[in-house]
Amino acid sequence: MNQETVRVLWNSIECSGYFRMGLSASDAYARAKAGQFVMIRFCEGLSPFLRRPFSIHRLIHKGGSIQGFEILYKVVGEGTEKLSLCRKGERLDALGPLGNHFRLPGKSCRIFIAAGGIGVAPMYFLTESLLHQGRGLHECTVFIGGRSKDDLLCLNDFFSAGVETVHISTDDGSAGSCELVTGPLQRYIEKNRPDRIYACGPLPMLKAVADMAIPYQIPCQVSVETVMACGMGACLGCAVQDKNDETRYLHACKDGPVFDVRKIDL
Ligand SMILES: Cc1cc2nc3c(=O)[nH]c(=O)nc-3n(C[C@H](O)[C@H](O)[C@H](O)COP(=O)(O)OP(=O)(O)OC[C@H]3O[C@@H](n4cnc5c(N)ncnc54)[C@H](O)[C@@H]3O)c2cc1C
Ligand code: FES
Repeated sequence: MNQETVRVLWNSIECSGYFRMGLSASDAYARAKAGQFVMIRFCEGLSPFLRRPFSIHRLIHKGGSIQGFEILYKVVGEGTEKLSLCRKGERLDALGPLGNHFRLPGKSCRIFIAAGGIGVAPMYFLTESLLHQGRGLHECTVFIGGRSKDDLLCLNDFFSAGVETVHISTDDGSAGSCELVTGPLQRYIEKNRPDRIYACGPLPMLKAVADMAIPYQIPCQVSVETVMACGMGACLGCAVQDKNDETRYLHACKDGPVFDVRKIDL
């Protein structure tokens, strides 16, 4: 278990209500994989008392080694509000990298990556890993959805990483097509069936993605962002129902946060 004090390298506003924070960290993060997360606590003050989980958005490289990692976050309550006020040089207490990770395909694949709202946070690291690992082996198509144009994050980052097609949709039609992210995903699955789907976003979105993938027998992994208290399998606060055994619960923090959609009841 790696617990350390990390320092804020930058904490910049991405767009209204969303921030990007770079944190310097030890080379324990060199082994971090896409889908893993960190539990962050403030060094100053007791509030909020519990750590808050954030996906590793990407690793920060400097001179061939790992300088730290970046998180992308949305301000929703006390902890993220306090985080948004952090300045460069401030210290935070981080536990990580935690949890399992997305499993990458061994052979050339057509891959669909779907992200809803702040669910895009782990998907950039995943896309980078797929493109880096594959070096042209995989064909990645990204689907990003948000409530409005202000909730569409990282579009240019995906293009810069080498993704050729990024579909955007918004609930209010202010950018891209006026529909849920599952709309274009469904049409593309019917037109050009992928070998794999990866998704992260609100639970109803993940359920809809699973309902598309399972009938077509498309391998599909989702990252679930349940409420978490300890992040280490000790409090049972992040229970996810095992789909194949109704008496059994899995821990999103230890068994997940990434699950095969055939294994959990969404
Ligand atoms: C594995 C994992 C990875 C995550 N990665 C990210 C990330 O990269 N970026 C990011 O912005 N957020 C991420 N989250 C969600 C993030 O942890 C919560 O938004 C954060 O803990 C809220 O803290 P708060 O003190 O600001 O809000 P609180 O005061 O604790 O809660 C404010 C509101 O947000 C709701 N809320 C709290 N936690 C969650 C949650 N997990 N999902 C949905 N609603 C929640 C509460 O029910 C409440 O309505 C992740 C969660 C998990 C479990
Ligand atoms: S968050 Fe405590 S068991 Fe998962």
